Amino acid sequence: MRDLLCSIPKERNAIVVIPAGFAHGEVMAAVHGAAFDRPWDAPWSSAAITDLLVSPGVYGFVAQIQVSSKPAEVLQAPEATPVGMILSRMVAQEAEILTIAVTPSARWRGVGAALLEASIKQAKKHGIIEIFLEVSEVNVVAQRLYHGAGFLDCGKRPGYYRHSEGAHDAVVMRRSLDGSDKKTPITCV
Ligand SMILES: CC(C)(COP(=O)(O)OP(=O)(O)OC[C@H]1O[C@@H](n2cnc3c(N)ncnc32)[C@H](O)[C@@H]1OP(=O)(O)O)[C@@H](O)C(=O)NCCC(=O)NCCS
Repeated sequence: MRDLLCSIPKERNAIVVIPAGFAHGEVMAAVHGAAFDRPWDAPWSSAAITDLLVSPGVYGFVAQIQVSSKPAEVLQAPEATPVGMILSRMVAQEAEILTIAVTPSARWRGVGAALLEASIKQAKKHGIIEIFLEVSEVNVVAQRLYHGAGFLDCGKRPGYYRHSEGAHDAVVMRRSLDGSDKKTPITCV
């Protein structure tokens, strides 16, 4: 488990990414709720996240600001403050990023990139050859994060995100983990 941890030193505090377990449902829901704050961004409940965490193939990570040198797994608040979460699912040789969220005050410090990296590393360990995700066409910040992590646009789902104020298309993105992006054109629907 410890080799999955990746830390980013930042001034006096460090941001540490730890594998999520069954007990992290509540913390992940709190982070998700703080991050998805617009009318079309429905937060996920603690029960929904906990259900996912015990579903086959689902795995996640929590990012926390750690102000203690104790092992990340044993820290309690306020020694460690959760600031980010990611949930992914592996099916056969494919994985999907289900959601990623970073609390507004912790953004643009590399937390999202670290969570994504941890998730991709885990997928590679399990022999996954490609990872997919969907992102709203209007979410340019998330799109930049994904492009920076090597994801390429590979499709659109018109009107995928429906909400009281209308609908937005989803951009489908894919990242190959076996280098095939460099050899073959991407086709996905
Ligand atoms: C998308 C999100 C997870 C990014 O988290 P983050 O911790 O701020 O991301 P990082 O600091 O790792 O930044 C990674 C890249 O994202 C982009 N980015 C981050 N914040 C940005 C901003 N405010 N404006 C423009 N680009 C930004 C940059 O390209 C950045 O890489 P760079 O610094 O090398 O240029 C976060 O903004 C968030 O939780 N948003 C709300 C929830 C959401 O939209 N989730 C995605 C749903 S598909």
